[in-house]
Amino acid sequence: MMRSATFFFIILPFAAVVAWLSLQAQSSFDLKASMERGRSLYAAYCQSCHGAEGLGMEGVFPPLAGSDYLMANRQRAIQLVLYGASGEITVKGKVYNQPMPGFDLSDREASDVLNYIRNAFGNKGDAIMPPAVKAARK
Ligand code: HEC
Repeated sequence: MMRSATFFFIILPFAAVVAWLSLQAQSSFDLKASMERGRSLYAAYCQSCHGAEGLGMEGVFPPLAGSDYLMANRQRAIQLVLYGASGEITVKGKVYNQPMPGFDLSDREASDVLNYIRNAFGNKGDAIMPPAVKAARK
């Protein structure tokens, strides 16, 4: 009797609250606010090469607008922003092979700039939250 009372009045409500809180944490991520912060990071760190409209420069800086490469792989996109890139890649059917520098960004900053580029310039992607950036760090 005592055992089941403990379950119903303490453990069960506690588990319900924990489940509810974790659901809130996920659904309350504000993608719009993240993109707004990402917009200024983009202007500061990325725009010089990839351009204000994300069009890049053919043969030199690949475009982010409509980039199949960017949208295909979340993990790869996160690591690219943190650690840079080198070697041949193909974006929208064109080959690029110039080094890109990495950026010393916090989990939140990387998440913000990725949420911006994945949802600006006509792109549409799901949110990349800071814990995903943390998990992708090498
Ligand atoms: C100095 C120029 C330069 C800067 C600054 C720069 N990039 Fe790049 N970026 C490149 C180059 C060059 C490549 C192609 C790398 C390769 O050939 O392997 C690239 C590739 C990429 C790609 C993958 C290809 C694509 O078009 O989808 C993404 C995504 C990207 N950059 C995002 C960013 C973001 C976000 C920033 C700012 C945080 C940034 N870049 C800053 C030059 C730059």
